[in-house]
Amino acid sequence: MNYGYFDEAQREYVITRPDTPAPWANYLGSPEYGAIISNNAGGYSFVKSGANGRILRYHFNSDDTPGRYLYLRDDVSGDYWSASWQPVGKDLNVYKNECRHGMSYTRITAEYEDIQSEALYYVPLHKTYEVWRLKVKNNSEKDRKISAFGYAEFTNDSNYEQDQINLQYTLFITRTYFKKNKILQTINQNVEKNEEGSNGQERFFGCAGAEVTSFNGDKAAFLGAYRSYSNPIAVERGHCDNVLNYNSNGCAALQSSICLKPGETKEIVYILGRHNDKDSDKILESYQDLSIIEKELQELKNYWHGKLEHFQVNTPSKEFNSMINTWNAYQCFITFIWSRAASFVYCGQRNGYGYRDTVQDIQGIIHLDAPMAKERIRFMLSAQVDNGGGLPLVKYDHNPGHEDTPDDYSYVQATGHPAYRADDALWLFPTILKYIGETGDSGFLEEVIPYANKEADTVYDHLKRAIRFSLERLGDHRMPAGLHADWNDCLRLGKKGESTFVALQLYYAMSIMISLAESRKDIEYAEHMKGVQKELYEIIQNLCWEDDRFIRGIKEDGQVIGSKQNKEASMWLNPQSWAVISGLADKQQAEAALESVHRELNTPFGVRLMAPSFADHAFPGALAILFNPSTKENGGIFSQPQGWIILAESLMGHGNRAFEYFKESSPAMLNDRAEIRVLEPYVHGQFTESTESPFEGRSHVHWLTGTASTVMVGCVEGILGMRPDLNGLRVAPSIPSEWKELTMKKIFRGKCLNIRIENKDGAESGFREMYLNGERLTDNYISEAEMKEENEILLVM
Ligand code: NOJ
Repeated sequence: MNYGYFDEAQREYVITRPDTPAPWANYLGSPEYGAIISNNAGGYSFVKSGANGRILRYHFNSDDTPGRYLYLRDDVSGDYWSASWQPVGKDLNVYKNECRHGMSYTRITAEYEDIQSEALYYVPLHKTYEVWRLKVKNNSEKDRKISAFGYAEFTNDSNYEQDQINLQYTLFITRTYFKKNKILQTINQNVEKNEEGSNGQERFFGCAGAEVTSFNGDKAAFLGAYRSYSNPIAVERGHCDNVLNYNSNGCAALQSSICLKPGETKEIVYILGRHNDKDSDKILESYQDLSIIEKELQELKNYWHGKLEHFQVNTPSKEFNSMINTWNAYQCFITFIWSRAASFVYCGQRNGYGYRDTVQDIQGIIHLDAPMAKERIRFMLSAQVDNGGGLPLVKYDHNPGHEDTPDDYSYVQATGHPAYRADDALWLFPTILKYIGETGDSGFLEEVIPYANKEADTVYDHLKRAIRFSLERLGDHRMPAGLHADWNDCLRLGKKGESTFVALQLYYAMSIMISLAESRKDIEYAEHMKGVQKELYEIIQNLCWEDDRFIRGIKEDGQVIGSKQNKEASMWLNPQSWAVISGLADKQQAEAALESVHRELNTPFGVRLMAPSFADHAFPGALAILFNPSTKENGGIFSQPQGWIILAESLMGHGNRAFEYFKESSPAMLNDRAEIRVLEPYVHGQFTESTESPFEGRSHVHWLTGTASTVMVGCVEGILGMRPDLNGLRVAPSIPSEWKELTMKKIFRGKCLNIRIENKDGAESGFREMYLNGERLTDNYISEAEMKEENEILLVM
């Protein structure tokens, strides 16, 4: 069953039925002001931090309430509804509704009783407030008198947890005031005066384009006792009773009357933000001329669409196109911005960036916005400790050079992260390599960046220290120790246990370091690294290869994890894909390992993280057993590794297999089975339930997941074969043989590349000929020096 479709021309996902299997969300805003909104207008807003800047309340794990509600009431009949289907929830046989989620805006249209409405929600570019524009049109043949009620439910405290649980305090610190055309809310108003004499903790909700005829600043007064958002007493009665809150929950409800002739349309704009009385007045004044809204919307579209234009593809698969051109790309940016901080599942407690997650997230946007990526790489390098390891959690107010580390009790206490993780800093290598490849900016390696705790070094030396960090923490077999965890949060091999995944990451990091060292003539280091890498190669080959698979690791007590002999979890995905990605596996091993993955882990909805799930034979430290079988790390289809297996298959030239994995796990491909997948068909989730679950195919934890970047990389670098290096671009597609032609447009180092791939013979990979601007090349590689401003590239497979 489907609930909507992709409108690629507009870069919108159009939800045609509002009764989706879960709230289907969109993100609005920027790092300065974030907002999440569902197709039924549920959601919340925050200034800078989901944890400490919450201004609009949301009930998590509940019924997608409250939200940005716009109620409409026919003042003659007394009937009322909402501009989004919920919260009033009229009968869908008579209430028509469509929601368009676009790039940083959401537009919900409805028609009921010949009144058409459109609610447009967005955060203007570079602004720290949000706009809700309501348009109401009379499609009937008679005059209509309609009341519009805008409703915003403020939190009582900017700290999300305080607002939810510390009620004996937070209920008694907030007040609301009605001033001109707005409700102003203050928090702790007797203290924290700023120099202008007003409170730093003021929020407002006001309107322009119509007079306010009644208001409420008290939630209970607006809703009425024993009522809900679906039937507020104020709306039912036809007016608010002008009650403001004092020692109760604040809110902002504004009523305006609209008289409409047949065919007439009127507009009201509501603005919400955390600004004081004076500033909010100025903001509201700037919306007196409502034409500003279309301009702002266009600016937003230009901004986002402009970024996405850096890479566009046209393949025979419209789902692949929608994901790579628009939705996967947008998700990469959203995950990049909000890390794992604020969604409908992440309630906002994480007040910072996870090291490994963030360094990986960067990879998803490098080809779309390299300067933005560079800034975050700098930031993450400044969160590397001088011993080479990464800070497991980098606080939003991170202060390079002055931070405590996991060696300090204060850090552990403040972040809840007790120790270093084995993989964190190793993610820097592929990320920095991709950045340099995309931009040619190898000078970045010379930039001096501080460490988190003290001292500073060039980027190149930061990387050396990251390798040293692993080499100084080896287990008994001289493989990198598992430390607190590797990529898998649920795998405790013991501090001196050894992880194959990290060993492969380290092996790959060494290859990258050798190439960087050679390119800058640091021959001594390159030679040294080659020796160390050879040793590591032998160890991994001797210890980790077992017939047709790489094992997952060796516990501190010597027990092998991921061996065929294990009763459970005898086959793991990541060591197989990473054996290929890292370049360690020889051809035979790679083919065998990938075949084992297909045979033992593949399902109709993607590849399981491992199998069989833990149930009776988990080792101490196999925390995955906490989850039900076929769920998350316990044998679920973890989504992030789907990108790695797509990449690994592509690197081996297996275009059909790579695309098979894409199809199984791609949200867009499951658009017509939305009732099974449940999650938004336009975004990846963290995992999908696999075979042992009664709900096989159901996905969870929407939007904020490393999947966005790994699948992006798997598709762009893998399937589409865009493989930049220091001097240019290799074009090496690994596509399904049924694709006979595809085109791509890539902006590469400021130059435009129009690439056409011809595949008349139905190959999966490889090439016969390649042409640059009509000239035949000897290889499938174009150096930057050969490129003009505009380039026509043809690759014949
Ligand atoms: C989600 C976490 O955010 C990520 O850091 C981790 O790698 C995966 N879970 C796998 O455990």
